[in-house]
Amino acid sequence: MPLTRRVFFWASTNPWLRTRAMKTRFVKRSVKKFMPGERVEDAIEAAKRLKTLGIGAILTHLGENLARIEEADEVDRHYVRLIELIQASGLDAQVSVKPTQFGYDQDPEVCYGYLVTLLDRVVAAGSFLWLDMERSRYVDGTIALYRRLRKSSPSVGIALQSYLYRTENDLENLLPLGAAIRIVKGAYLESETVAFPKKTDVDGNYFRLASRLLKPDNSGPGALVHVATHDIALQERLRRVIAERQVAPERYEFAMLYGIQSERQRQLAESGIRIRCLISYGEHWFPWYMRRLAERPANVWFVVKNLFGG
Ligand code: FDA
Repeated sequence: MPLTRRVFFWASTNPWLRTRAMKTRFVKRSVKKFMPGERVEDAIEAAKRLKTLGIGAILTHLGENLARIEEADEVDRHYVRLIELIQASGLDAQVSVKPTQFGYDQDPEVCYGYLVTLLDRVVAAGSFLWLDMERSRYVDGTIALYRRLRKSSPSVGIALQSYLYRTENDLENLLPLGAAIRIVKGAYLESETVAFPKKTDVDGNYFRLASRLLKPDNSGPGALVHVATHDIALQERLRRVIAERQVAPERYEFAMLYGIQSERQRQLAESGIRIRCLISYGEHWFPWYMRRLAERPANVWFVVKNLFGG
């Protein structure tokens, strides 16, 4: 793995750097590429703008790995407000959360309690809840949470990462549930004992897993595929699979992140593909922002440009 990626991953977990960098003007300026703002209203406004382009939204309030379980109450209150705002605005917007944002590290059972209540609220609002996938040590726990939540409602989905060797197996085990699966490459620094070290293998596995999800036997109630990548070549290969197999449009959506390949997002929407943009917002953006920078070597130049006021 290139040194620059390692540096960004190291920075993403460094509290000293986080405290200092978040106060720095150039860091604040550069994060705007990936985030419409810190306030929930900024995210709602961004979702409204995307709606005019035919792009749906997924909203996530940034935060992960709480220091104290009590902080989960505040997170919960925030999502209550978010759901109210989604309903009031009439937006086609889904919600995405990380288990560690609801105290998974401190108490998985308490975390489940928050999530099942959140799912009830999301369902009552006619929306949809996604569980993000975090580092590999959380995969078993997140899948267990998903299985329990899925018993309450089909309006819940889970992200799976193609960089992990185990994902093919996890995916096969989840399919009989009628699972909504967001397939992503994976955003964390993982050891080669658990994840493919070569990007070409991660990409190849992504294609295999997404093709598997798009097979006709995965079309029962609740089954949904989110093709979540900015990799245009991969998107095109999968579009060919979709066309060849005549996959029904309601069985899949494309999903991309706010601020990345925005023109491509518009093009996909214009061509009639169902596409959603995941909009992240909130004050706790530092680790997430470092992961975005790690995803692309050119982002080093983007940072340097912002450092000098570009
Ligand atoms: P890849 O990294 O190959 O990028 C393809 C191209 O896209 C690049 O060449 C570049 O042009 C552009 N690009 C990609 N990332 C960029 C960036 N940061 N800045 C600028 N350009 C960029 N991960 C995870 O571990 N758990 C999760 O729950 C999620 N959830 C999630 C939801 C959605 C909707 C998306 C799109 C992604 C995630 N991810 C995620 C992140 C995912 O794992 C992955 O890290 C990124 O999507 C980057 O990988 P790509 O598939 O885009 O391909």
